[in-house]
Amino acid sequence: MIVLVGFMGAGKTTVGRLLAAKLAVPFSDSDHVIEARAGKPVRQVFADDGEPAFRQLEHDVIAGLLAKNEDMVLALGGGAAVHEGTRANLAHSKIPVVYLKVSYAEAMRRVGGDLDRPMLARPDVAQVYAERDPRYAEAATFTVDADGKTPEELVLGILARLR
Ligand code: S3P
Repeated sequence: MIVLVGFMGAGKTTVGRLLAAKLAVPFSDSDHVIEARAGKPVRQVFADDGEPAFRQLEHDVIAGLLAKNEDMVLALGGGAAVHEGTRANLAHSKIPVVYLKVSYAEAMRRVGGDLDRPMLARPDVAQVYAERDPRYAEAATFTVDADGKTPEELVLGILARLR
């Protein structure tokens, strides 16, 4: 298993799918597993149950996936690595974790205003970004700068670092 972390708009899904294809393994995304388990979209979990319930579910889903450690590329939702328990599980698992680092400006150009991402509706999203950056770095085995690079270039960079 290889895990991707990073802020919304870093390209975790695009790069993760491409990386998985290159390695001929499945791609998964913690948000999709959460949606299957909850039976509704992430934004609806936030709306109906609140962010703390989402974070608990997110932690549980990721703990289960890490424990199975199947041969695949797993992208974590942008807030997942903020959870101390999830960071501890990642560290304990010894699974390689890639921080796909996007600048705040580039992230906003890509996904700013996306109504399916409830965290983007917060007035303090810049502060959320600033608080998370060191958490991602702490969770990661290594960091890859995503700004100004194509998904193909990023995948080649990740593969080189993994070898
Ligand atoms: C979130 C990021 C989203 C999703 C949820 C919360 C966050 O995932 O998990 O909307 O807190 O940053 P992506 O990073 O895939 O957009």
